[in-house]
Amino acid sequence: MEKHKIAIGADHAGFELKEKIKNVLSELNYEVVDFGTNSTDSVDYPLIAKSVASSVKNKDPEKGILICGTGIGMAIAANKVKGIIAANCYSIDTAKLARQHNNSNILALGGRITDFNIAKDIVKAWLETDFEGGRHQRRVQEIKDLEK
Ligand code: RB5
Repeated sequence: MEKHKIAIGADHAGFELKEKIKNVLSELNYEVVDFGTNSTDSVDYPLIAKSVASSVKNKDPEKGILICGTGIGMAIAANKVKGIIAANCYSIDTAKLARQHNNSNILALGGRITDFNIAKDIVKAWLETDFEGGRHQRRVQEIKDLEK
């Protein structure tokens, strides 16, 4: 079976959760492309967001996960890149809705906010949930139109 590919990146505040989430993704048979950071040394989250968002923009791979202290900075930065819909999710419900209604292609998590046991379920829910299309397709298109 062909492996799905996913990009991941974190700053120092998200590094530890990133390492744990990478294991979850491997168990789910994903090929993980890791854009760093690779330690808890301080690093600026917009630079990591830019790397992951640029690869997702080019659909190589089609989805990514970004982790900082709160997930907020990563989502703000990633959403500046054309074609990116990054959603900062903190529950299974928000993760599902970020796919069903928003067709998000990047999941942002808060390493200082969300415990690993919840984060892993958020990741699974986000990966397993499809976009619903229909009226949401029109709304997502209206978001894309804002990029023009
Ligand atoms: C780093 O201290 C922190 O500001 C960053 O990880 C993130 O939470 C920003 O939104």
